[in-house]
Amino acid sequence: MKMNTFDYAIVVASDSRSLEQRKDLCIDVVKNALGEEFSCRYEKIISDDKQGITDELLYLCDEEIPLIITSGGTGFSPRDNTPEATMAVIERPTPGLSEALRLISLEKTPFGMLSRGVSGIRSKSLIINLPGSPKAVKESLEGIKGPLIHGLEILLGLVGEHKSN
Ligand code: MTE
Repeated sequence: MKMNTFDYAIVVASDSRSLEQRKDLCIDVVKNALGEEFSCRYEKIISDDKQGITDELLYLCDEEIPLIITSGGTGFSPRDNTPEATMAVIERPTPGLSEALRLISLEKTPFGMLSRGVSGIRSKSLIINLPGSPKAVKESLEGIKGPLIHGLEILLGLVGEHKSN
């Protein structure tokens, strides 16, 4: 049976990485964790500026990229703006995904409760906020990959609603 491949974009929100003060490691981790069922069409490292993140997400939704992964900017620092930018863009929240991400993270570290990441749908795009550490990105994506594929199939109208298992 032919496998669906989903295009996606990665947006890293980080003041230090956008200024190249710190090397980004998360983009490669996302690519490895998502594997061959997904195809990276776009990657960008931007600052933590809220309007900049919002504009980037709007652009990617307008381009109808089915999956937009953000990494970073979900914590408690005054410059952590990714959830607010995401909430300004999404039309339909997907709290179950973010709840699952926190649950998966909490199984690894109590610091998982410090991520304020959100997720949601705008038109034909699903945006998911992940924390900014490569370790967190790996742990998060491995935990949601199966249901994520099914959710994207439904969003894109490739299958019906119900899975038999
Ligand atoms: N989730 C997982 N799975 N693994 C982690 O190591 N780190 C936490 C949390 N979520 C972590 C995690 C920490 S220490 C913080 S501060 C928050 O994510 C927010 O990270 P961010 O500000 O880089 O987005």
